[in-house]
Amino acid sequence: MKYAVRYYTKTGNTKRLAEAVAKELGVEALPVSEPVTEPVDLLFLGNSYYAFNIDPEVKTFVASLERGKVKRIVNFGSAAMLNSTYKKVKAAGVKAGEMMPCVSPLGYPAQKKSLKESMMRKGVGADNRISVNKLFFMDEWGKALITNDEMSDVLEMVRWAPSAVNKQPWRILFKDNVWHFYEKKDRGYESDVTGDLQRIDLGIALCHFTMGVEEKGKSAEVTVSDPGIEVPSDVFYVASVKISD
Ligand SMILES: Cc1cc2nc3c(=O)[nH]c(=O)nc-3n(C[C@H](O)[C@H](O)[C@H](O)COP(=O)(O)O)c2cc1C
Repeated sequence: MKYAVRYYTKTGNTKRLAEAVAKELGVEALPVSEPVTEPVDLLFLGNSYYAFNIDPEVKTFVASLERGKVKRIVNFGSAAMLNSTYKKVKAAGVKAGEMMPCVSPLGYPAQKKSLKESMMRKGVGADNRISVNKLFFMDEWGKALITNDEMSDVLEMVRWAPSAVNKQPWRILFKDNVWHFYEKKDRGYESDVTGDLQRIDLGIALCHFTMGVEEKGKSAEVTVSDPGIEVPSDVFYVASVKISD
């Protein structure tokens, strides 16, 4: 996976954060005046608030990014009072009808879990996953998938993906050499404020899948074109993936 780190700073705080991120990733932290010329999978962009806004230089930088070149952006910042700068960055770069959700745990796990965390993890069965035969199908809904070892590895990466309250809302149906992703909706995960949280889980699952495929030296093309396969009423088509060598 290819990374790049860019930052905008006035007083040095964000630069320090960017350098720490870049060190972990083994790349150099550069200012936003340096364009992204090479294709990257993840661009870490650090910036902050000044007088309730992000600097115009950051907006120009984000707007100039090429879709085909930068697959995803992770936005981080060091603002003193306001929330994350992500909404402003998103507004600068996201085209009409698109959404850029971000789930971002920061820091290191404590050596010993708190009682609250242990109870929560137990409550949602955080260390368990739904069995393969309930998640992955072939040709029609509910029919067990038969696949090779290579794809089993990739699907196992999807199976162990994290999701809100460990609901694992993803389902995959393999038909005519295409992997179709569906969201099995649970109640209570969608509101006007948050959007559909389980869609984010589907994005995470898709990401695990495509990264798994790429890890096997193949490429994964994601398209949105509902194949019209009959599915249960609480299941919704999301995207399809075609794999090529
Ligand atoms: C001129 C100026 C204006 C600022 N305005 C805001 C602001 O509106 N909201 C906020 O949360 N922080 C504000 N801050 C605080 C900075 O966002 C914060 O100190 C940040 O860490 C600075 O990052 P930098 O050192 O990378 O420039 C302001 C700082 C400066 C110097």
